Amino acid sequence: MLLFKETAHLRHFLNTQNKPIGFIPTMGALHQGHLSLIQKAAQECQLTVVSIFVNPTQFNDPTDFEKYPVTLDEDIQLLSQVKTDVLFLPSVKEMYPKGTGNLTNFDIGYLDTILDGTFRPGHFNGVCNIVETLLLAVEPDKLFMGEKDFQQCLVVKRLLEIMKSSIQLVSCPTRRENNGLAMSSRNERLSKSAREKASAIHYCLQSIREDMNKRSFGDLQTHYSNYLNSNGFETEYLLLADANNLQMLDEFDTSKKMVVLIATKIEGVRLIDNLRIN
Ligand code: PAF
Repeated sequence: MLLFKETAHLRHFLNTQNKPIGFIPTMGALHQGHLSLIQKAAQECQLTVVSIFVNPTQFNDPTDFEKYPVTLDEDIQLLSQVKTDVLFLPSVKEMYPKGTGNLTNFDIGYLDTILDGTFRPGHFNGVCNIVETLLLAVEPDKLFMGEKDFQQCLVVKRLLEIMKSSIQLVSCPTRRENNGLAMSSRNERLSKSAREKASAIHYCLQSIREDMNKRSFGDLQTHYSNYLNSNGFETEYLLLADANNLQMLDEFDTSKKMVVLIATKIEGVRLIDNLRIN
């Protein structure tokens, strides 16, 4: 595995390769979910590039940024277990030469007015800024991202349209712990007991899927929001949407592909998850 910290050096190397590139952008604290993205990329592309960069501009909450787990030695260890050809590890100065206060405004429209767009103001614009910069540096053929961040996948799809890019976005299924908890770098911040309790999120999603023919969504939404909140969670949203465009749905509509999305906090750690229900 080759390591580059500067875009110019990365470009110099990639220009000599002339192979299809699969790119996996990450913020580190890698887990099996990331490794499965790298494995998928290695199956589909001859060269795999992984970036690790904790992007300051996508954290609307400064405490969340300060507490974001950084585990570089372990990450490099994990990357050597899968076929990672290149690790890109840029600095903040390298990614934001004009400073982090000088961002491009991406018009992602509706997607910024719902779910994490409203609960995390500025978050997706920060994501778009860094993903654009990384894509211009790596120039991949395919971009691999996890469906746990369902809304982020749609935002990046929109970004690719804005960039008029031909890069193909490959969104991959969520990887889960044995208890159903969606794998996330943020899980590192949970105590052992909270990590156990957090299996309730997937339990709620599954229960909603099982009961969708018996009860209204409104009923299930109230029931499972209360269930989470009486078990130590602070729930931001539990919503039903059209999986193609995230238009919100008040009720189940089997003529559409549907997804249920949850954002909730436990021990002050914000966790998100979702499940396609048909
Ligand atoms: O999903 C993430 O880890 C980040 O949002 C990403 C895509 C690497 C951009 O910083």
